[in-house]
Amino acid sequence: MTETGLPQISQGLDGIYIAESSICKVDGIAGRLYYRGYSIDQLAKNSTYEEVCYLILYGKLPTAIELAEFNKKLVDARPLPPMIIDVINEFANKQDPMDTLRSAVSSLSAYDTDMNDSSEAANLDRSINLISKLGSIVATIGRYMNGGKYIEPNPSMTHTENFLYMLNGKAPDKKDAELLDLMFVLHAEHSSNASTFSTLVAGSTLADLYSAVTSGIAALKGPLHGGADEAALKMMRAIGNPDNTEKYINDALAGKRKIMGFGHRVYKTYDPRATIIKEDLLALQENQSEDVKTLTKIALRAETMMIEKLGKSHGIWPNIDFFAGPIYVSIGIQMEMFTPIFAASRIVGWCSHMMEYWKNNRIFRPLEYYVGPSGLDYVPIKERK
Ligand SMILES: CC(C)(COP(=O)(O)OP(=O)(O)OC[C@H]1O[C@@H](n2cnc3c(N)ncnc32)[C@H](O)[C@@H]1OP(=O)(O)O)[C@@H](O)C(=O)NCCC(=O)NCCS
Repeated sequence: MTETGLPQISQGLDGIYIAESSICKVDGIAGRLYYRGYSIDQLAKNSTYEEVCYLILYGKLPTAIELAEFNKKLVDARPLPPMIIDVINEFANKQDPMDTLRSAVSSLSAYDTDMNDSSEAANLDRSINLISKLGSIVATIGRYMNGGKYIEPNPSMTHTENFLYMLNGKAPDKKDAELLDLMFVLHAEHSSNASTFSTLVAGSTLADLYSAVTSGIAALKGPLHGGADEAALKMMRAIGNPDNTEKYINDALAGKRKIMGFGHRVYKTYDPRATIIKEDLLALQENQSEDVKTLTKIALRAETMMIEKLGKSHGIWPNIDFFAGPIYVSIGIQMEMFTPIFAASRIVGWCSHMMEYWKNNRIFRPLEYYVGPSGLDYVPIKERK
């Protein structure tokens, strides 16, 4: 309670700690990010998505043998059951791909041979299955959206090579797959963001992992969270010509509209993931299409202007989503797929947090301060005016 006798309301749970965790540290003041103690800069440079998944799930870097065993489990889990392909076939062209993803992932529980087994070992197996299957599901959604059909996964490819293969139906360019792998690494985990929290809320009722993750997917969809990279690219497309950038941003800010891909609840400085993506975007300019070059020019001008206007003064800096769009465009990935790809990467974070939280589970049940009327007398419907 505050001095006035009213409760302290933390809108959006701003500044509220919900649990102890040893998975991820976000230092929003220094602009640093660590998965299990390793800085994102080191992981981005040296690791792969498969290894990062192992690290996040098990809390340590794998030995070569451990990684090979883990990889085998991921590869074995790649094929999609026919009913999941049917779900994708039915919905892929009728709704947003995030909605199709939500339905497909929710349906995976039908293939779980023992839903009553809620042991840690069973949930670890489910997590590995989900990490693998989300890649296949998202790629297949993209394929059906473009009139294609399901392609059997290729066991000799890495997770992201296989993703591009199942999406496009041809062996991917190695550089594209490496760049996508980097995007998967950068999106793999980020402490108790909205979708992870949503996962935890659903799971804290002791609902199963599929239900919890489906809740995470639902929360990720919105433009304030996972949908921001698509929204940022839409803005760059609306700007069109780099010379229009400053006017567009000025008009948007004057109209009190948010610029997507900027600002963060925790980072009050440059998001370290945005720094890495920006460097990679600049490094790949040479052989890029005019489209990617133009998008990059717009992004850089928007970045300079936003930092000048809102950076130091308001703590609003570029986040991971701002430079992601042009990177995905360079790999040939369509805008609607950005958020589903985010989900396919973040699945490891959702599962790891859920398993960690279950070790010391308590149902989430916050309070609301009631400000509505009370003591009203019920009026029969015929007497109501
Ligand atoms: C990420 C985000 C949701 C954080 O939200 P938050 O901590 O609740 O902060 P708020 O939305 O309350 O914003 C605080 C102030 O900064 C402003 N602001 C925040 N992000 C802004 C943006 N991207 N562009 C312009 N102004 C912004 C708000 O308008 C608000 O101004 P006010 O105090 O004058 O009303 C928010 O910064 C945002 O909407 N960003 C755009 C979406 C995005 O990129 N999301 C991906 C995050 S990884």
